[in-house]
Formats: sequence, C-alpha cells, structure tokens
Amino acid sequence: MTETENSLRPARLSARDLTLAYEDRTVVDGLDVDIPDGAVTVIVGPNACGKSTLLRALGRLLKPARGSVLLDGTELARIPTRTIARSLGLLPQSPVAPEAITVADLVSRGRQPHQHWWQQWSDADERAVTEAMTRTDTAALAERSVDELSGGQRQRVWIAMALAQETDLLLLDEPTTYLDISHQVEVLDLCRRLNHERGRTVVAVLHDLNQAARYADHLIAMKSGRIVAQGAPSDIVTADLVRDVFGLESVVVPDPVTGSPLVVAGPPWSLTG
Ligand SMILES: Nc1ncnc2c1ncn2[C@@H]1O[C@H](COP(=O)(O)OP(=O)(O)OP(=O)(O)O)[C@@H](O)[C@H]1O
Ligand SMILES: [Mg+2]
Repeated sequence: MTETENSLRPARLSARDLTLAYEDRTVVDGLDVDIPDGAVTVIVGPNACGKSTLLRALGRLLKPARGSVLLDGTELARIPTRTIARSLGLLPQSPVAPEAITVADLVSRGRQPHQHWWQQWSDADERAVTEAMTRTDTAALAERSVDELSGGQRQRVWIAMALAQETDLLLLDEPTTYLDISHQVEVLDLCRRLNHERGRTVVAVLHDLNQAARYADHLIAMKSGRIVAQGAPSDIVTADLVRDVFGLESVVVPDPVTGSPLVVAGPPWSLTG
C-alpha cells in the first residue's frame, strides 16, 4: 500500500461475501470490497465481468443471493429505501425514462427522497436542480422531452438527476458513454470536483483505462466476477495486469501530463518493427 492508499478513509459502503446471481447463473461469488470514503473509485474490467451487477448490488437495485452490502455498518436490506436514497445515488448503465417526461421533470425526480408530504418542493430542491443542470450543461434542454434527446444529451440529463439527489455517495455506471471527448472530460472533472470540494464518494465504472488511471484515487480491476487487483492506479496498472484482465498486450508509460499510468494498447512497438 502506498501513502495515498493509507490516507484513504475507511469505507462507509462495503460488501462482505457478496454473491450475485441472475436465477441460477452466478455472476459474482463471495466478493469482499470496501469503497474508500471521500475518494473517487473507478471500476474497470472486460464486458460481462460483473461491473454493473456489482454496482447495482451496491446501490440496492439487486438483492444479494448471499452475503451483504453494508452502509455505515448496517445491511442495506435493513435500511429504509428513503434513507438509502438520501445517502446513495445510483446511475445505472441503461436507465429508462418515463415516456414523454421533460428534462426538468426528470432531474426534479432526483429530489424525491428529500421531499415530505407537507412540503412537495422547497427552495433547496430548486437550488439543487438548477445547480445539477448547470453543472451538466443541460439547463438549455429543460423543456425538451427526454425521448427526443441525443444519446449524449440524455446521458448528461441522467447525471444531472443523480447530482440533484445530493447524496454523499454517488455510483455511476459508465457515465461517459455516448459523450463526446469534451463532455467526457467535463463529467470526469465534475466527479473530481464533487469529491474535492464536497467530499463526495464517487464510484464509477469506466472503460477507458487511461481516464480511469487519471481520475481514480482507488482503482478496482475486475475479471469474471472477481477483483483481480485494487489500489492506487500507479501501484497496480502494469502491462501484466492489462494482459491478465483484458488479454491484451500493451506498453504502460507515465502519462506525460499527469504522471498516472498511460496504457498504450497493442504489442510493444519495438518488437513489431
Ligand atoms: N438482467 C440479467 N439477467 C440475466 N443475466 C444478466 C442480467 N444482467 C446481466 N447479466 C449477465 O451477468 C453477467 C455480468 O453482466 P454485467 O452487466 O454485470 O457486466 P458488465 O461488466 O457491466 O459488462 P459491460 O462492460 O458490458 O457493461 C453477464 O454474463 C450478463 O450476461
Ligand atoms: Mg456494465
């Protein structure tokens, strides 16, 4: 463990002996994980290795077949849904919007866990929605129907809804999907700012290893439902890891700008010429 790893705060969200299955197909078997509090954790791994399944279980969208997910030491299954929703927000990989809903209405739904029967809508709700839409560059879309948006616009609206929920823990499954390169960087910078400025704990699934290495404090590499390696990106990202996890030859060099590991996919160039 490095100094950075040691300085990570203990987990509020963790899983013990977690087994996740769809009917009789087990996807994750006996997994233990601690999500460092107040840090950005990124999960990487090949398609179908169980990243979304794990994230959905951490967000209580999927019930464990065995074992448990703990939030502040209590099993998620024992915490009222509304209490969880005030602490933990989850953006699934393929969320489905209610038909013909407008952007402003969808983002506002992120405030539901904060509303009460005696007060449907408060100034705090208004502020949270406005800020979430500003931060995701979606304010201009407010009156549009979500059905009619481009893939990238829709993705940013979903992120806005998750932000409007204003939870300490934010789980994002491939938040950069569909986004052009500048919006990808904006979303990742936003995750980092939420973490730095507000101490939010962010867990994101990403496919771009270099973005993962650049933005993660803590990186989790998964393969076939297991955690193969975890730690600070500079400690764990090596050509061996990339080969083990993705079956891909690569060269890993320090990123000239950030110093984080930069994975250049393909065989070592010196051997191909
Ligand atoms: N609703 C479901 N019913 C049955 N099997 C499922 C379901 N969702 C996922 N699976 C299976 O569980 C395994 C893990 O899927 P999961 O979606 O967690 O993968 P992933 O790592 O997120 O992949 P990707 O990078 O493609 O998003 C896959 O074999 C998948 O086919
Ligand atoms: Mg997935």
